[in-house]
Amino acid sequence: MNFCRGFSAVSPTLILVACVACVVRARPLATTADDTDAMHYLIKYGYLEPGEDHQNPFLRHIALLQFQDYFGLPKTGRDDDDTMKKMEEERCDLRDPVSSTALEIFANVLNLPTAGFDVLSDVPGEGQQRSWFKCTLRWKIVKPSQNLKESDVRNIVTQAMKKYEGALNQDQNEYTFSIEEARDQEDPDIKLLFVTGNHGDTFTFKKKDGVAHAFYPTEGAIHFNDDSNWTIKSKDGIDFEPAVYHQIGHAFGMEHSRNTSALMNPIFKRADVPISLSADDIERMKKLYPPRFCERIHMDRT
Ligand SMILES: *[C@@H]1O[C@H](CO)[C@@H](O)[C@H](O)[C@H]1NC(C)=O
Ligand SMILES: *[C@@H]1O[C@H](CO)[C@@H](O)[C@H](O)[C@H]1NC(C)=O
Ligand SMILES: [Zn+2]
Ligand SMILES: [Zn+2]
Repeated sequence: MNFCRGFSAVSPTLILVACVACVVRARPLATTADDTDAMHYLIKYGYLEPGEDHQNPFLRHIALLQFQDYFGLPKTGRDDDDTMKKMEEERCDLRDPVSSTALEIFANVLNLPTAGFDVLSDVPGEGQQRSWFKCTLRWKIVKPSQNLKESDVRNIVTQAMKKYEGALNQDQNEYTFSIEEARDQEDPDIKLLFVTGNHGDTFTFKKKDGVAHAFYPTEGAIHFNDDSNWTIKSKDGIDFEPAVYHQIGHAFGMEHSRNTSALMNPIFKRADVPISLSADDIERMKKLYPPRFCERIHMDRT
């Protein structure tokens, strides 16, 4: 932030004006291979807007600072080793909910209060928490994997759904959630599909780009890249279990969390760590589905 150092005692508006002036004047620098990878990541996960001038060293610096802030890394604003290593970890395809307007970004980076700023992103379907408005939910593996055994996938999904059901029912009383596999004639709410390449949404899978993503309620679809090297309880590839727990969280309406113990952290948990919903996940879940949620649903329906 050397552009702004001299202004640190001045008001946020002045700093903003001064920084914007720098943005306009800054010249592009030569980029290296690492730079390109980092830039691709920053754009893909929402740290740089697609329309912005990505060669602009100031914008790149701010984007890296935001990334480092999100993942609790030292805030250097450079694509240093820690930063590049973090970017190589297997993660979800959905963007991280980072501040999107210039004002929020400056406020965040300079640690100024953000009261009054809109802190939610305005990308449709992202930055918005939505929930199902029913308590009986059905899931189905609509398109199985060519590589993972369907029975293994089904067992893992069944277990995961049981854990979510348990968490959801903690504060329900007479009326509770029921989350089960859809029978043949039932329309599933949460649909799991293993697909490849361009599969009809804005997330095109490539052999080594794109792993998994999901859609918030009441869409509820979960897509896995069937070209990814999925494994079950193995470190030689991408472990399916943590990935599916994470995607189910999205299908229930949860966004990404910065909390490193959360299943909703964008980086998938490792194969050798037992999987459960963390306190952070449960807290978020309760915001979407508060105590006696199912009772309210029942009252609305009768
Ligand atoms: C894919 O997974 C297998 C184990 O299932 C492993 O031996 C192989 O190295 C992995 N390949 C890549 C590119 O990660
Ligand atoms: C993660 O969430 C838990 C539960 O809300 C909290 O106790 C913990 O301090 C959080 N950790 C971080 C690094 O925010
Ligand atoms: Zn995700
Ligand atoms: Zn998709």
